[in-house]
Amino acid sequence: MDWLDWHQDYDDPSSDLSGRLRSVQRAIRNHLDAHRDGPIRVISACAGQGRDLIEVLATHPARDRVSARLVELDPRLADTARTAAAAHGLTGIEVVEADAGSTASYAGAVPADLVLFCGVFGNITPADTETTVRALPAFCTPNATVIWTRGRHTPDIRQDIRAWFTDTGFKELTFDAPDNVAWSVGTNRYLATTEPPTPPERLFTFQ
Ligand SMILES: C[S@@+](CC[C@H](N)C(=O)[O-])C[C@H]1O[C@@H](n2cnc3c(N)ncnc32)[C@H](O)[C@@H]1O
Repeated sequence: MDWLDWHQDYDDPSSDLSGRLRSVQRAIRNHLDAHRDGPIRVISACAGQGRDLIEVLATHPARDRVSARLVELDPRLADTARTAAAAHGLTGIEVVEADAGSTASYAGAVPADLVLFCGVFGNITPADTETTVRALPAFCTPNATVIWTRGRHTPDIRQDIRAWFTDTGFKELTFDAPDNVAWSVGTNRYLATTEPPTPPERLFTFQ
């Protein structure tokens, strides 16, 4: 898969991918709107061009309170994200070219208040998806929001993912899965009722 090509569907506002982007951006906006004071830390795994976060922050009143680490392996996409952040004067956005499946890539950026796993769970094994979901408490502040996506392609593990979140101490806020599209977007709040377990060094390996 050439991930640069994959991003081209974003240029068509009627594409499935653009519909998914709007859903993710609504969820990001909801989190920012609900947090009117203080710093907001964000991490984004496999961030691609970072359109979801950068496009929202470009016009959101919280923009200068946000510090974000975007973790993306492809230098071309990381560069696009960096350029877009700079074009909007978003000085709190750091784009690192690193393996998002490695826990070490988030050192210094977690615990975060907003955690984006968009375009990840559809490209890793169900076992890695479960490992990642169960590790997420260690990446989250109490009341953090996790935004994640997963297509309905086989094996359709979306209901398993929702159950893993609930079982790991998250409350589901929304699950946006319109009938006529292939994508789903989930948002979950970390309730932090117990001390998070130490995460494994490796969360997932991209397929
Ligand atoms: C499906 S795209 C999602 C991009 C973005 N999150 C979005 O939703 O628009 C997957 C992205 O993961 C990146 N990627 C693949 N393996 C990775 C890894 N091990 N660490 C970080 N990024 C990776 C790809 O380069 C690609 O940009």
